[in-house]
Order: sequence, then structure tokens, then C-alpha cells
Amino acid sequence: GLSTIRSICCIGAGYVGGPTMAVIADRCPDVQVTVVDLSAERIAAWNSADLSRLPVYEPGLDAVVGRARGRNLHFSTAVEEAIAAADLVFISVNTPTKTKGLGAGQASDLKWVEASARTVAKAAQGHTIVVEKSTLPVRTAEVIQQILSASEGSGVSETQPAKSFSVLSNPEFLAEGTAIADLEKPDRVLIGGQDPEAIEALAAIYGHWVAPQKILRTNLWSSELSKLTANAFLAQRISSINSIAAFCEATGANVREVARAIGADSRIGEKFLQAGPGFGGSCFKKDILNLVYLCRHYGLEEVAAYWEQVVTLNHWQQQRIARLVISNLFGTVSGKRIGVLGFAFKADTNDTRESPAIRICRELLEEGAVLQIVDPKVSESQMAKDLGQPAGAGEGDGDGSWQRVPEVLQAASGADALLLLTEWQQFAVIDWPAVAAVMRQPAWLFDARAKADGALARAAGLQVWTVGEG
Ligand code: NAD
Ligand code: UGA
Repeated sequence: GLSTIRSICCIGAGYVGGPTMAVIADRCPDVQVTVVDLSAERIAAWNSADLSRLPVYEPGLDAVVGRARGRNLHFSTAVEEAIAAADLVFISVNTPTKTKGLGAGQASDLKWVEASARTVAKAAQGHTIVVEKSTLPVRTAEVIQQILSASEGSGVSETQPAKSFSVLSNPEFLAEGTAIADLEKPDRVLIGGQDPEAIEALAAIYGHWVAPQKILRTNLWSSELSKLTANAFLAQRISSINSIAAFCEATGANVREVARAIGADSRIGEKFLQAGPGFGGSCFKKDILNLVYLCRHYGLEEVAAYWEQVVTLNHWQQQRIARLVISNLFGTVSGKRIGVLGFAFKADTNDTRESPAIRICRELLEEGAVLQIVDPKVSESQMAKDLGQPAGAGEGDGDGSWQRVPEVLQAASGADALLLLTEWQQFAVIDWPAVAAVMRQPAWLFDARAKADGALARAAGLQVWTVGEG
């Protein structure tokens, strides 16, 4: 019947589509799952025999893909073919902030979602459940429904039943770096929709491994808005604690002591209270700006301004850290070597989208610094794209330059400062006497994540600044 899903297609083989479908396929061996993408390069990488070469790095992902790929998990560029075979299609394409036109800089660009909906409208056969997995503005399901409706009823022939569609919203709450754990043991799964049969069909997929009471059902608009709201609340906590970190530095308080004290209140909770260089990642900023845009659209200026401040504070925090490095290095970093520890937007991912390291490094390059960057998962070519200049260029002539180095010791070599920006575990266990010996004195550690052992660094003779420590 309609309510049993046997074949799933996911449009978009990115950070969400890839891991999410891998877990669904792993947990539902009786369902065929095909992940499609326009990027042949990305699909080839998902199909690589060497599981360490998957396009997304997530702890545990290689094992899940290894179990399911070729059995009931497939990666393909044959988009229309996979849609035609599917009972259910996830749309998991990118929804970045618009760069031009109406709403530029705030509204989400829905052109990839719209293109996906048009392809589904064209290629689908019989009844198809279409699921928004991408994070979308409230009421986008209406747009998708309209595009699909235009082709409903067509395709009637002896071999082909008429096309029909049900649209659901099923936002994804996974965080990068813990994607597999989040997918295998979600706090909740959210399904929004109007068609009970479609909702139950999708719920049955998750029911293979998620407890029934964790599968929440809402109307479409609540589901879409819950995703934006969850990210807004999470990001707001980070801006809140970062604002208090600055205040701690000014007053002699310690933000980690404050976080522990307030986090012990069960109404506040202890998670997501880590002060740092500001939040990065592809979604927080984009989703809040989208919320801000929608609030303005509905005439809610005060609500828009309230959420906008979360992003403003985050920019300020990133800029504050770059400036503090410069001012402590006697007001100039021109020609000075600075070791940058970490480039990814958080630990355990190769993703650099909106990484605070980008803004901070660019600011230091602008001032003529020579950066020696170490990150275990970010490639030199990715750094070059993000920094807008190739490795090595400009060295020696007062222009800023950078290079990727393999180890902390090389990052420290000849450097006046180390700047810790990503909380990779390896930075907690640095051999400080060895590092201090290769740095130029007086040497600094600027620890924007409070990850390093500051006491050991001090004992080795470094001056230490730690975020949120007065
Ligand atoms: P991504 O850029 O990594 O992947 C999107 C993929 O979609 C790309 O590979 C692109 O080539 C493909 N694509 C675009 N248009 C297509 C089309 N018409 N046909 C076939 N393929 C197409 O993006 P992502 O990080 O996976 O994010 C996807 C969505 O999920 C976004 O809306 C994002 O806000 C949301 N989200 C992301 C995360 C996260 O941690 N990254 C978490 C939750 C939700
Ligand atoms: C975030 C949310 O946590 C996910 O629930 C959501 O699905 C996802 O966005 C999304 O919609 O894309 P993600 O951005 O992958 O996930 O990672 P987070 O762990 O939330 O970290 C985001 C940023 O905040 C990172 O730069 C991180 O270092 C920073 N952060 C996080 C802090 O500075 N302090 C904290 O206490 C927590």
C-alpha cells in the first residue's frame, strides 16, 4: 500500500543528505536508498573504494557507509531515474543566503529547492511523498506544493498511474562532528504535514530505530519554523556566553566558572555554554538572518532586531579576537609569524563554512602577518579558497602570507604567537617546553577555545590569554 516505503531518493549528497541517508539505509535494510547529486565529483567521492576518501568527514560515517553501500545505499548522478523509482523523495539541497537581488544578505536562496521540486514534478511516477529536509523559510512547503500540483494528474497510461504528491517537512537537527551519533540517537524527529498517511509512512521509516515518543508530529508551518527557532536559540546561547566572556575579561571573573554556576540551574542547563571565537558553520548565521528577514516581511521590526543582535555580537567577538592578538603583539603583526591552531569551524569536521578562523586569519593577513596554519582535516586547497589567496604568496614583502603545516611544532617555529581557534583534542596535549623552544620570545598563546593547558604553557615561559579569563 501507499504507507509502506520501499524506495527512497534523496536529492543532495552533502553534509546532511549523505550521512542521513547512510543511517536510514543502515537501519532499514528492506528499503532501497539512492542519494543523487548534480556534482559528479561528489558522487564519485561517495563511491570511492577507500572509505577514508568520502567527501564528508564524520566520525563513524565510514563504517555505516561500508555496511550499507552497494546493498541498499547507492550514490548516483542519475537524478530523474532515482526519482522515478522512489516512493519518497527527500530534498536536501543547499539553501544559502541570497547574495543578490531582493533580500540579498538575509533571505535564503531557494533556487536549488525550486529546481529540485521541478525535477520531481517532471520525473516522479505514481504517488510520491516529497519531504523537505533542507532548512527552509516558513511556508516554503506551499511553493513546493504549487510546483508539484502543476504536474499532478499527468502521466496516466496503461503502465503509469497518474502523478500525485504529498509534501512533508522533516528538518534535520544533526550537528557536524557528531552527525552519526545524532542520527542514530536523536533527541527527537520532527515531521510536519497535512496528510496523515504520508506522515505515518515517514514515521515508520524512523520507527525502525527511533522510539515512538521521540517522533513529533506538527503542522507544516510549525515544523518549518521549529528548525529556524532551534538554531536561533542555540546560536543565542553562544552569543550570550561570548558577551559574558568579554565582561569576565574586563572584570576578573572567569567565564567557565560562571558557565558552570549558571548551567547547574536545570532551567538553564549546562550544554552550549562554551565561550569561543564566535560560532561558525553553514547554518546558524544563515538561519538567523532568514528568520530576521521573515520577521521584517511580516512587519515585526522589534522581533527582527532582537534576533539580528545575535549575529552582530558574533561578528564582534571574531573581530575582537583578531584585534586583541594584534594589540598584544605591540600593535603590529606585519612580517610576524603566527601559528594558527585549527581552521575548521569546530572539531571533528573538515567543514570550514563560516569558520571564525576565516575572518580572523583574513584580518591578520590584512595586517601583514605570516600565518602557519595546522588543521588535521582541512586541506591546503580549502584554506586557499577561504583565505582568497594561495599558500606562500607575498612572503617577505610585508604582505600577509600563509602556509599549511602538518604539526603544532612547525606552526610554532619562529612564531611570536600561537592562536588556538578550533578545539581539536590534539591541542589539549601540546608539548609546551618543546614548542616554547622554537618560538621567538616574548611568545604568546592566545587560546580562543580554552582548550590548551594554559598552566603548562605559562610554565614553559609563554604569556597566555584565554577567552573569558580576567
Ligand atoms: P551541501 O552544500 O553540503 O549539500 C547540498 C548538495 O545538494 C550539493 O552537493 C549540491 O550539489 C546538491 N544539489 C543542489 N541542487 C541540486 C539539484 N537540483 N539536484 C541535485 N543535487 C543538487 O549542503 P548541506 O550542508 O548538506 O545542507 C543541506 C541543507 O540542510 C541546507 O538547507 C542546510 O541548511 C540544512 N542543514 C544542514 C546541516 C549541517 O550540519 N550542514 C544541519 C541541518 C540542516
Ligand atoms: C548546528 C546545530 O547544533 C544543529 O542542531 C543543526 O542541525 C545545525 O546547526 C544546522 O542546522 O546546520 P553545527 O553548526 O554543525 O550544528 O555545529 P554546532 O555544534 O552547533 O556548532 C556551531 C558553532 O558554534 C561552532 O563554531 C561551535 O564551535 C560553536 N559553539 C558551539 C560554541 O562556540 N560554543 C558552544 O558551546 C557550542
